Amino acid sequence: MAEVRLKNITKRWDDFVAVDNQSLDIRDREFLVLLGPSGCGKTTTMRMIAGLEEPTDGEVWIGDQMVNEDLPKDRDVAMVFQNYGLYPHMSVFDNIAYPLKVRGTPKAETDARVKRAAEQVELTAFLGRKPRALSGGQRQRVALARAIVRTPKVFLMDEPLSNLDAKLRVSMRAELKHLSRELKITTIYVTHDQIEAMSLADRVAVMRDGVIQQLGTPDDIYNAPANMFVAGFIGSPAMNLIEGSIKDGQFVTADSTPLVAVGSRDRENVVLGIRADDIEIGDPGKGDLDVEIYSFENIGENTLLTAQLGQQRVIARGERHLRKEQGEVVSIRVNAAHTYLFDSETGIRIRGDDDA
Ligand SMILES: Nc1ncnc2c1ncn2[C@@H]1O[C@H](COP(=O)(O)OP(=O)(O)O)[C@@H](O)[C@H]1O
Ligand SMILES: [Mg+2]
Repeated sequence: MAEVRLKNITKRWDDFVAVDNQSLDIRDREFLVLLGPSGCGKTTTMRMIAGLEEPTDGEVWIGDQMVNEDLPKDRDVAMVFQNYGLYPHMSVFDNIAYPLKVRGTPKAETDARVKRAAEQVELTAFLGRKPRALSGGQRQRVALARAIVRTPKVFLMDEPLSNLDAKLRVSMRAELKHLSRELKITTIYVTHDQIEAMSLADRVAVMRDGVIQQLGTPDDIYNAPANMFVAGFIGSPAMNLIEGSIKDGQFVTADSTPLVAVGSRDRENVVLGIRADDIEIGDPGKGDLDVEIYSFENIGENTLLTAQLGQQRVIARGERHLRKEQGEVVSIRVNAAHTYLFDSETGIRIRGDDDA
């Protein structure tokens, strides 16, 4: 049990700044997800918490200890990596038992704890096997069991599901969530997958180029994105970000097409944000604007319609039985209550959804 605090952490290699003066307070027992595109500094942040990388500047605190000088083994953190990091010559049992063995835990206690951890991740039947005789999902469970076999102060998980195929990833995600709510140990989880972040996190820190863009609950970052980057990163499909301006209370696209009443004061260089779910599709002449279909996708549970909007494109979600062809004309209606406005130069949100 512990909170983790980063105080003005910087990691620099020569003149490249991977993590740029970041502070972050992770609460005791919190599941905090560090989310961002590849290369934004997630793993580097994680490795500094683990003690595998030394910060160029700043402090790492675990509980009431400043741990900058502590070796990884003295920080009482357990890590799960993308590539599992199992010992190929050891059985599943010995892999799981390893963290106990190196700490000199008595045999009877080791046996009991390994059995308990194996039960929690449903590996009991595989304890005698070697990792090569396991599927990817089972190997991932071994890595997880090895982390939970002790009760560390902190779990650090770096893209632990990313080597699994899509279907397994979804079921492991649910298992991981279930397990994390049972264990209630402070967890820092790194991913570039926004759905994983949304589904697992108590709070998400969205990162870009070594800088945290927003820290908030999944609801916060989905419904009140701080800037255009967060807005475009969270949600599938990504939020439509349409360039234009505001004239007489109307948002007008860069091609001078009035799109929706936003009631804000006039200004240039505005980006309108609207999610695919908040654009209604109708018959020609029945909505606010007739548009030509650029592409139509049936994805099973519903449909996605991309339409040409002057030089830009906009994507709308249709109901599952909708069938349209490329080149057809439909009308769209933008739900004004769910629009966001961003400053196109700074990317900062100037209005939207919650405070419309
Ligand atoms: N040892 C290193 N030396 C130089 N640059 C590095 C080193 N490790 C990582 N980087 C760079 O730091 C940036 C952040 O890397 P990383 O934290 O691994 O990103 P992420 O995990 O978000 O994909 C990347 O541009 C990466 O190339
Ligand atoms: Mg990484």
